[in-house]
Order: sequence, then structure tokens, then C-alpha cells
Amino acid sequence: MSGIYIHIPFCKQACNYCDFHFSTSLLNKDALVKSILTEIDLRKNYLPDKTIETIYFGGGTPSLLSEKESFLILEKIYKLYNVSKDAEITFECNPDDLLDDKLRELKRLEVNRLSIGLQSFNEEELVWMNRAHTAKESEFSVKRAQDKGFENITIDLIYGSKFSNITNWKKTLDKAIVLDVKHISSYNLTIEEKTKLGHDLKAKKETAIDDEKSAELFLEMIDRLEKHNFVHYEISNFGKEGYFSIHNSNYWKGKHYIGLGPSAHSFDGMSRQWNVSNNNLYSKRISENKEAYFEKEILTEKERFNEYILTSLRTIWGVELGYLKSNFNDEFVKIFLKQVELFIQTKTIAVNNQTYTLTEKGKLLADKIASELFV
Ligand SMILES: C[S@@+](CC[C@H](N)C(=O)[O-])C[C@H]1O[C@@H](n2cnc3c(N)ncnc32)[C@H](O)[C@@H]1O
Ligand code: SF4
Repeated sequence: MSGIYIHIPFCKQACNYCDFHFSTSLLNKDALVKSILTEIDLRKNYLPDKTIETIYFGGGTPSLLSEKESFLILEKIYKLYNVSKDAEITFECNPDDLLDDKLRELKRLEVNRLSIGLQSFNEEELVWMNRAHTAKESEFSVKRAQDKGFENITIDLIYGSKFSNITNWKKTLDKAIVLDVKHISSYNLTIEEKTKLGHDLKAKKETAIDDEKSAELFLEMIDRLEKHNFVHYEISNFGKEGYFSIHNSNYWKGKHYIGLGPSAHSFDGMSRQWNVSNNNLYSKRISENKEAYFEKEILTEKERFNEYILTSLRTIWGVELGYLKSNFNDEFVKIFLKQVELFIQTKTIAVNNQTYTLTEKGKLLADKIASELFV
């Protein structure tokens, strides 16, 4: 059970908060797709004997690809990798791209899961974010996709900007519920240093909201979405039964994946590698095949242990004692059992059937608790 991630590093315009890797110049899109096709070839033995269960087009903005470009990428993957018949094929789309023709194209490509970046339903906030769409366009894009037969739809939301208050957050969540999407990824706004928002914050032209207010929004989201049958299966992710993201769940469960395209990460169980985050360098190095287009790090047992704690603690599946015992040395397991006691006493972690999960109180402190459980 493995996945393939393809990073499409292009966007129409830069959102003010985003520090993912992308370029707003589409001039080299052709060349970059050719390089990705070459990388598909170069990487075909990265995960030998593994069935590919998920393919995920992420970005950047994959919905900027032409049908031919997406087709060529998928065709080559199907030709060179063992892709399971019922693989989950996700395509990240920006609402402004999801017109009828694009949706028909995605159907022809047999994409079976759409991830639509709505971010907010507040027009003023969307302008502040520098998004390329309005709230109405977002709503229509979801409805159009549903009308065209896409059932497995997830939306992205961001909360915790200066526009967030409990009243409009409730309205946003209700809108998402009424849209009848099957999955919601909802992220607390992070103000990244190298973004416009980061610069404005430094120049004191912007303010960040405090943790207490973010916590209130987070708890409201859990309450409201759970009442509408969404399962809070990962700190930032909610899905109806049967609609959890298989691709992302596999990341959190420590399964293996190949990342293609500039800035994409790969993991084979023992090592992690990441491609250069520069479109021209990536293409140049791929075509010349002289210099590595990626950096690689072999993970120590300690690093693997800490990563498992960090990712699994954020999920509904939690930290399994059996997994720890069969994958790590006795000393690490002993340290874990000793350190976790404090969190059980403070009711931030619950233990059931030798599985440790965060309580609601614990979810507010997820990263802090994980770091204190590190060896
Ligand atoms: C990198 S984007 C790619 C998807 C697509 N381009 C879009 O904008 O919808 C993936 C998601 O990350 C989230 N994101 C990006 N930067 C963020 C930030 N600084 N804080 C919180 N969420 C962020 C947004 O919700 C976004 O939809
Ligand atoms: S949030 Fe999405 S559309 Fe906006 S800059 Fe980042 S990747 Fe591009």
C-alpha cells in the first residue's frame, strides 16, 4: 500500500499567507511537465513490489494543468507502476478553475476525489488573502462538481485570521455542512515569515489572533462538525464514514510514498528525500542527470520513533503499543510508557486497548504533548 504525490508548482497568483513551493509564471509549464514525466521513469524502482493505492495531484494548483498534461502523467504512471484498480485519485483544484469543461476533463481522466480550496466564505477575507475567487464562485464550484457526478469532495478552510470570530466561523461551518461535502480539511492560519502576511506582521501592519481565540474556534468546529456526522479523524481533518483521505491517512500511518515534481518529498520506510524547490533547477538537473535533483536523509531509529509519535498522536488511530514494541527497541518503549503517564493523569491522553489517543483537551496541545513524548 503506497502512494504517489505529484507536485504541480504553478498558481495564478500568490495567496498572501502561502509559503508552499509555486511559481506564478506559467511559461515553463510545458518543460516542467516533461521533467515530471522523466522523473516518473527515473523513480520506477523507488518502491519495488508495492501496489500504488493512491495518486494525489497537489500544489500549487493542479487544476492549471491541461487535460493532455494530466493524461500524460497518469498514462505513464499506469504504464510503469502497479496501480490498483480502485485507486483513490485526488486532484487539488482552485474554485475559479472548476468550470464545466474542467469538470468533464477530470471525469474523463477518472479522477475520483476532488479537493477544492475554498478557504473562506467571507468576501472581504478572500480579498485580504489574495484568493483568485469569490465566495459565490466557491459555492458554485462545489455544486457544479456534485452535478457532474463527483461525490467524494473535500474542501479546505482556514480559520484564525483577524476576520475570524465565533459568529462568522459558525456560519462558515454551517455553509460547509449545507454544501454536503464529504470531507473538510480545516487549518489554523499559520503566519509564515516569507509571505506577504509575514512581512506585514513584522511591519506591524497586521496582527495575529491569540491562541485562546483559536482554541475556541477549533472546539466549535469539532462540536459542530461531529453533530453532523463528520468524524474528527486527524487534528485538521474531518470526514464522513467511508470518505477519509486514504492518501493522507497513509502518510500518517507511516506508509511509503513517492513524491514527484519540485519540492515533493518521498519516504521508503528508512529514508526520506525531497526534490529541489526550484522549477528551473529541477528541470535542469533531471534532464542533465549529472547532479542530484534531491537531497536524502537516512532516518535513525530515534527519528523514526519521534515521527511515529508526532503523526499518529494527531489521528483517531493513536499510538499503538503493539506497533511500538514490534518496531522499536525496548528502551524507547519503556521511556514512552513512563512519559505518557503524566498525560493520562492530566486527562490529555486516553488509553484503550493499549492504544493512546488525545482527548479533546489534549487535541488543543497536540504538538506540545508529542514533543514531550519524544525520545
Ligand atoms: C498549498 S494549498 C494547495 C491547494 C490549492 N492551491 C488551494 O489553494 O486551494 C493546500 C492548502 O494549504 C492550506 N494552507 C496553505 N498555507 C497555509 C497557511 N499559512 N496557514 C494555514 N493553511 C494554509 C490552504 O488551506 C490550502 O488549501
Ligand atoms: S494557497 Fe494554493 S493557490 Fe494560494 S498560493 Fe498557495 S498553493 Fe497557490
